[in-house]
Amino acid sequence: MNAPAPGREAREARGPLRRKGIGPSPSGWLDPRGRALGSWAFAVNRVTGLGLVFYLYLHLGVLSLLLVGESAWNDFLELATTTVFLLLDVLLLFGLLYHGLNGIRVALVGSGVVPNRQRALFWAGTVIGTLALAYGALHILGGT
Ligand code: HEM
Repeated sequence: MNAPAPGREAREARGPLRRKGIGPSPSGWLDPRGRALGSWAFAVNRVTGLGLVFYLYLHLGVLSLLLVGESAWNDFLELATTTVFLLLDVLLLFGLLYHGLNGIRVALVGSGVVPNRQRALFWAGTVIGTLALAYGALHILGGT
């Protein structure tokens, strides 16, 4: 017989899930009330994941300027090194760090390696991510 899923006993001790229907109501997606930390973490993970997909295509589009020629690339570099664009780089770094660190947390919890420490892992990731973001932001903005 298969071994019980990690954390199953604790879940069963809390009793069955009480839901009014299958999944959240359509307005529930936009209702911020009464959400647990994990729910916020998931929402931000989704926003950053979609943001990274958007950035990937944007990045490929921008790189294709290289095909246009040297002056097109130099014009872009001038724009890309303005403070507003460098701040967008910091936002990108935040998205990468959040999504990556939270992804590692989700993988560790979901695979049962660390099933009952999702909150501690979230705050550990927050500390590591904040330090890395501060370090990166200083370097990115340091040249302006
Ligand atoms: C740093 C490495 C990364 C790790 C460890 C990671 C990990 C994960 C994990 C574990 C999930 C599932 C989350 C869940 O089910 O709760 C996920 C979702 C996702 N990831 Fe990543 N990821 C990484 C990089 C990326 C990159 C580079 C992109 C985009 C180019 C990306 C785009 C997405 C998207 C769109 C989702 C689906 C979000 C959703 O449905 O809510 N990820 N990632």
